[in-house]
Amino acid sequence: MTETSGAARRTRLIGAMCGARPRLRWSILALLIAVVLVSFAIRLAVDVPNIVTGTVPGPDAFEQRYALHPAAAYLHMVPGVVYLLGAPLQLSRRFRSQHLRAHRRLGRVVLAAGLITGVAAIVVGVWFPYGGTLEASGAVVFGAWFLAALVLAYRAVRRRDIARHRRFMIRAFAVGLAVGTTRVWVGLFQAVGLLAIQNNAGTQWFGVAFWFALVMHAVLAEAYLAARPTVIGRTNLATS
Ligand code: HEM
Repeated sequence: MTETSGAARRTRLIGAMCGARPRLRWSILALLIAVVLVSFAIRLAVDVPNIVTGTVPGPDAFEQRYALHPAAAYLHMVPGVVYLLGAPLQLSRRFRSQHLRAHRRLGRVVLAAGLITGVAAIVVGVWFPYGGTLEASGAVVFGAWFLAALVLAYRAVRRRDIARHRRFMIRAFAVGLAVGTTRVWVGLFQAVGLLAIQNNAGTQWFGVAFWFALVMHAVLAEAYLAARPTVIGRTNLATS
């Protein structure tokens, strides 16, 4: 197979994934959000008893870091869940067109939640990464990308450039949602024996899972946007 035909196949595959029917896209999105909600619920079930009783699991336990640094960890996770639940509503054209005022109000809450979770993601990723340097670098690169996309989206809407606002919000959401795909990669690496969280083997694969998921989501977002070029400039918030 030539390099060109390989590249063409990759482009077709990405195009097909991005061009998936809206219902299929929303289903994948709901599934990934569910994955994140389940990991958050597991965190709560494990961490709350530790935090309440002051118990710190042994150094080999995955959850030790969450018991030692609950403030930073929950400053990341709680606003992250608020962001991840609010953002799909904000991106829904139907919601915008029917409830524009609610879109504006909720937008402030979702934006603030996104900014807090993004800053805390970098702190958590650098301070106590399970997956070492790979995880830390992924958290810095994509945490910064997530924050930059949110800030640029906000600046655009202040200038009434709704098309640009929407495009940067899609970029931010794609990166936020990658958290769900990270867990899918972690599960796969565990299934094939590259990573074993129960005995801390292959922890670097946790970092690889971060990079795979984040790069994949950032690329898919760009492909999705490239397939839908919009005239950048003043547009209607309710219909764009
Ligand atoms: C926007 C929505 C987000 C939500 C709802 C969210 C949620 C979570 C949850 C539930 C955990 C705990 C993981 C577990 O125990 O399985 C976590 C950890 C983490 N998240 Fe996020 N997150 C979000 C965005 C991000 C972003 C954009 C980044 C940066 C790229 C990031 C970086 C991290 C890091 C570095 C950890 C620590 C993983 C570890 O070493 O244990 N998160 N997040």
